[in-house]
Amino acid sequence: MRQKIIILDFGSQTTQLIARRVRELNVYCEILPYNRQEAVNAPDVIGVILSGSPFSVYDPAAFKIDLGAIPSDMPVLGICYGAQFMAYRNGGKVEPAPSREYGRAHLNHVDANDPLMKDIHPGMQVWMSHGDTITALPDNFKIIASTEDVAIGAYADTTMKRWGVQFHPEVHHSQCGMDILRNFVVDICGARQDWNADAFIDSTVAALRSQLGDDKVVLGLSGGVDSSVAAVLLNRAIGHNLTCIFVDHGMLRKNEFNQVMADYQGLGLNVIGVDASAKFFADLAGVTDPEKKRKIIGRDFIEVFDEEAHKLKDIKWLAQGTIYPDCIESLSITGTVIKSHHNVGGLPEKMNLKLCEPLRLLFKDEVRAVGHQLGMPERLIKRHPFPGPGLAVRILGDITPEKVAVLQEADDIFIQGLRDSGLYDQVWQAGAILLPVQSVGVMGDERTYERAVALRAVTSTDAMTADWAHLPYEFLARVSNDIINKVRGVNRVCYDISSKPPATIEWE
Ligand code: XMP
Repeated sequence: MRQKIIILDFGSQTTQLIARRVRELNVYCEILPYNRQEAVNAPDVIGVILSGSPFSVYDPAAFKIDLGAIPSDMPVLGICYGAQFMAYRNGGKVEPAPSREYGRAHLNHVDANDPLMKDIHPGMQVWMSHGDTITALPDNFKIIASTEDVAIGAYADTTMKRWGVQFHPEVHHSQCGMDILRNFVVDICGARQDWNADAFIDSTVAALRSQLGDDKVVLGLSGGVDSSVAAVLLNRAIGHNLTCIFVDHGMLRKNEFNQVMADYQGLGLNVIGVDASAKFFADLAGVTDPEKKRKIIGRDFIEVFDEEAHKLKDIKWLAQGTIYPDCIESLSITGTVIKSHHNVGGLPEKMNLKLCEPLRLLFKDEVRAVGHQLGMPERLIKRHPFPGPGLAVRILGDITPEKVAVLQEADDIFIQGLRDSGLYDQVWQAGAILLPVQSVGVMGDERTYERAVALRAVTSTDAMTADWAHLPYEFLARVSNDIINKVRGVNRVCYDISSKPPATIEWE
């Protein structure tokens, strides 16, 4: 049986980070909204982590759980609000801190005998982010770490197996954070640390074989990492009972369709490539509104995919490369659970097939590790994210095959330049955008009046927030020069220096 740690989410921004850190320790964990606490009683749960929260424990709207319903031999670690909540509910005192505490602090007292504090020493840096502070502990709890400003930096009730930390061990700036999490999940909860790509592949291949039997499965490939890894995993499990469909809507990158098809065939996938670009261009003609473009592309994609899938016989399942961040049910401040599950443009509803999502337990970096273990080429695994509607959302205004061709050339120079300069893997995502403006230039003795292209490159970890990539000026100068010299119809290049928020990664 696979063991797991449950992280009960009280709405903190760092809840996903806690899960990633636990996974980095090769321990499987799941995030659940706080109001799913009954899940901790399952036989495979070996420990519970209570996350932070935007609320104060004494706020009437604060998220609450029944601590008494957690089995008494189940180790629990409260982080920030989680720690305050456990202390408060057990008779301790939580009050607003004299001043809100954000940022670095250093431990000045550590109880080295407590199992949570093994190998943790005074002087180590931790990261604080709280407005309230615990001012008195319940009788049976004892202080196991302090900082200069926070006397109750961490506490324990070893008999009841309850621990709390006021700081955030999950954030990178907490120097001893990984050690504390390791002490909790490995030493205290007894996790085996056997969650890795190989184990995932073995167990998933076995599970897919028993789930799918001799059934036939169809999967839509996009050229992206998630659908590609899902396809290779399924191919390993059920071979040619899997048929993949890769739709070319005409707005992919330069040569992308042929390159990706060749990669897929090289991986032994049973893949049908469909050139549907004429249909997409016809339906998009004259459309300028970004949302309308997306809707048309989504609708056309479903029509084309559905038509191709119907040519296949006896398909029972639709497979998708949905990954864990798409499935986590996130909490809004009102406590409503928002299901943030995106599936590709409503395909499952339309097709009336059973849904198979072999990657739904994995974070993106884990998907990449699985792809690597499956022997997939690095250029597929490390590919930047690319929006489903492709260059259509990077051509501002109406779309024509001619504009796509211009943008493909500019984009190709930029992306190839990033690869040649060793910068490709340092950015999360990059691309060129064709602007709906023309401006005056001079080439030789001629006045020109041509298009402008914007370059966008961002750093990010999850696309929820992003910063513009600080690419070297020399590199940008070279790319700008190349684009203006080589791409007909472009006489100006700009670099987008907006972060997300308030901008977004894509321009449309
Ligand atoms: P934004 O522009 O919202 O993008 O900051 C965040 C991430 O999502 C990608 N993106 C899309 N992906 N269909 C997709 O499959 C879309 O319509 C779409 N719009 C944005 C974007 O490339 C970035 O990685």
